[in-house]
Amino acid sequence: MRKSRPMKTAGIIDGKAIANAIQAKLKQQIEAQSGSRPPGLAVVLVGDDSASKIYVNNKRIACQNIGIKSHSYDLDTNTTQSDLLQLIDDLNQNPEVDGILVQLPLPEHIDSTIVIGRIAASKDVDGFHPYNVGRLAQRIPLLRPCTPAGVMALLQHIEVDVLGRHAVIIGASNHVGRPMALELLLQGATVSVCHRFTPDIAPFVAKADILIAAAGKPGLIKGEWIKPGSVVIDVGMNRATDGKLCGDIEFEAAAARAAWITPVPGGVGPMTVAMLMSNTVQAYQAHIGA
Ligand code: GUN
Repeated sequence: MRKSRPMKTAGIIDGKAIANAIQAKLKQQIEAQSGSRPPGLAVVLVGDDSASKIYVNNKRIACQNIGIKSHSYDLDTNTTQSDLLQLIDDLNQNPEVDGILVQLPLPEHIDSTIVIGRIAASKDVDGFHPYNVGRLAQRIPLLRPCTPAGVMALLQHIEVDVLGRHAVIIGASNHVGRPMALELLLQGATVSVCHRFTPDIAPFVAKADILIAAAGKPGLIKGEWIKPGSVVIDVGMNRATDGKLCGDIEFEAAAARAAWITPVPGGVGPMTVAMLMSNTVQAYQAHIGA
């Protein structure tokens, strides 16, 4: 799987640089295209979860950097579900808003499935709506879930040949693991998905040409399990006991065996934001009939 890299440790996939390049292209595209109005993204945050605040802020800054108008809605933790649904109905009708992002997780009294299902599919720039997930499942993707789309962009960037490779995903969440499997299937990979009921993940990891870890458990995947020469993508974003950010994979030990590896932070995270921007521009183009 190594693409002309004779070194003994893995190449680091610089997600931040790749995301910056994608955003620079989107900026040019927006400048060349925006006629009567710029693209608009509504970013809705309910409550004061500190990690969510940071993520939402990053998304708003990205909008500003590339010329997307960001509409901010910071709602109190006690906002009712019906008030939130009313806001979504209003945003669905707002002609200046091309994309609607409701940051997850939502407070416990709000049903995120109902909220996501209420967003107009054409404005679902997270790609979480059942319509958009269904489109991906049927091999006719429109707005694609951002993190898996970002991982595919990283694989494309390092020119990994996905066709016929064994891709192993650790984690089967609605927002990452499952759509990740659909993306990889679409590109012709043989896909295994491990999850909390998989008794022993080590033999799967050992067979992975492409490993995608998205379990949210620091140190879950031991470096010694990694298949030599494989491509290792860590979607995990955890806080280690020493306070530092880390992924799901033992980075140093995995890097000693893999051909390519993503760092945490600076790997998949910035790509999620770049794909959100890309989806917003795509939704904008569809709305203005470009
Ligand atoms: N919370 C963590 N990641 C995401 C994401 O990609 N989208 C939304 N809406 N919420 C998140």
